[in-house]
Amino acid sequence: MSIQSSIRRKTAPDIRARKRGEPIVMLTSYHAHTAALVDRHCDVILVGDSLGNVMHGFETTVPVTLDMMILQGAAVMRGSKQALVVVDMPFGSYEASREQAFNSAVRIMKETQCGAVKLEGGVRMAETIAFLSGRGIPVMGHIGLTPQSINTLGSFRAQGRNEVDWGPIEDDAKAVADAGAFSVVVEAVAEPLARRITETIAIPTIGIGASAACDGQVLVLEDMLGLSPRTPKFVRRYGNLGPAIEAAIEGYATDVRSRAFPAPEHVYEMKKS
Ligand code: KIV
Repeated sequence: MSIQSSIRRKTAPDIRARKRGEPIVMLTSYHAHTAALVDRHCDVILVGDSLGNVMHGFETTVPVTLDMMILQGAAVMRGSKQALVVVDMPFGSYEASREQAFNSAVRIMKETQCGAVKLEGGVRMAETIAFLSGRGIPVMGHIGLTPQSINTLGSFRAQGRNEVDWGPIEDDAKAVADAGAFSVVVEAVAEPLARRITETIAIPTIGIGASAACDGQVLVLEDMLGLSPRTPKFVRRYGNLGPAIEAAIEGYATDVRSRAFPAPEHVYEMKKS
């Protein structure tokens, strides 16, 4: 057996078992090269439909297609070895019926070989989550702020700021857990509500802009690296790579223009970076 095949990838049940245990570390990645870096430190890699904003410059995630998710999901699987890879179901690929969701999820799982899918929505998607989970497809839920609904929400505002608004969000959390999701992303939800949901439901909550009260955290990789032109206020930056990349590009351009480029003797020999 090769060394590679002896490393077991984390599974949805492994993540489910982390409820109230060691916090779950999750980051997004859309490429093989960033997946390899993220894989060394994270339990879960999310191939988020935020790739529409980050990679493609769309204003929202609405234009993202199933083919785009499958292409990047397969790249992330090739780049990673041990993390559970979860691929987002894009807007329009699952809402029409349980059968539409099943067909889209099967394509994602067969063509990327990822370990789970994620979809947005609570009570309204519970029947679909139960349908998929009962047919061999692990589902991660996503409640609170659901960016694919931007056109009905009107803005990307935090959810559940006032206690009177907590009821529907708590109902969503409970519905997703009862339907058989193995974990749920809770986005842009006020701390007391995130804490209450985390204490109440049986599956791990993974927060983004929802406080440290959750069972784990997720961020968009490019946001925490300082590569995104705009980031939500709650994002803590762990790097400022934008200026470093620009300085490297500037150095290259200067070398090319001044003909100070290295001689090509070993041009096809690869060196490990
Ligand atoms: O698409 C994405 O990256 C996400 C995270 C923000 C949770 O859904």
